[in-house]
Amino acid sequence: MQPRVFVALRLAPDAFARVEDACAVTRFDGRGIPTKQDLLSSLADAEGLLGSAITPIDADVIASAPRLRVISNFGVGFDNVDLAVATERGILVCNTPGVLSDAVADLTLGLIISLARRLPEAERFVREGNWGTGRMVDLGVDLKSKTLGIIGLGRIGRAVAKRAQAFDMETVFHDQFRDPPPDASFCRYRELVGLLRESDFVTLHVNLSAETRHLIDARALSLMKPQAYLINTSRGPVIDQPALVAALQAGRIAGAALDVFEREPLPADDPLGSLPNVIALPHIGSATRETRAAMLNLAIDNLLAALRGEVPACVVNPQALEVREARS
Ligand code: DGY
Repeated sequence: MQPRVFVALRLAPDAFARVEDACAVTRFDGRGIPTKQDLLSSLADAEGLLGSAITPIDADVIASAPRLRVISNFGVGFDNVDLAVATERGILVCNTPGVLSDAVADLTLGLIISLARRLPEAERFVREGNWGTGRMVDLGVDLKSKTLGIIGLGRIGRAVAKRAQAFDMETVFHDQFRDPPPDASFCRYRELVGLLRESDFVTLHVNLSAETRHLIDARALSLMKPQAYLINTSRGPVIDQPALVAALQAGRIAGAALDVFEREPLPADDPLGSLPNVIALPHIGSATRETRAAMLNLAIDNLLAALRGEVPACVVNPQALEVREARS
């Protein structure tokens, strides 16, 4: 009998066919991302779950899925899953690292350039029938010789560092793993406080965890230079959002470019959607055709491997294998 899988994503027909060839599939037929309530009523028989990295899979959802063996995330993040509970149950949690690093790094550099050269403001200026730098509020700044502080020097942070080097930026990093990887030896380590004080641009590339939630709080923001910019393409809750709004409104930092938020979609009345010194994007870090296709392939590979009883290429909780072994 084919394993039963719940697909909580809209899939292109060829991707859907790959899953359907090997599994008995139920697909989420609502709009957007399924809510917790949708999941609670959908997983009674499911052995596999294929969903986005923002599908909320908490302890209740996992408890509602007694046969679940694998949660395959379409995304590198896995903070949407209660990892401890999944591991305790021996459920493998998989993600799609690597294939999206270049796309996220490209977007990050795009945001850095947009902030430095005031691109959104200049674009609005032309649309409103204006011309010339003379009448624009302010000139931009060069990237050359500016310091880019990278918080989190994993795959994406390294890809950002590499690009920043091509712009002759100085790169410093902070990471819980202090040593720079060999392919990023040009990046100098700093304690967090030093990085925040020194950087002209601070960019976040950490997983969301208990340690990184609100890593950038009012104190961290107060350490940044008044002319510095903050860029976040990681996860919204890494920043204490009300503290950021206060810092931006008071001009304590120059601006921010944000692809992720504490609440997504960003509520219509959130000040971050309208502050003039903010660029707000709708979580599009990995949103290129090539990258999304590669992510989907990898997520499906992970799902099918786990359902065949193999160890998938990208498991974030290998301890679940030990739990299974101890039980068998
Ligand atoms: C990821 O890959 O985690 C992206 O942020 C999509 O959610």
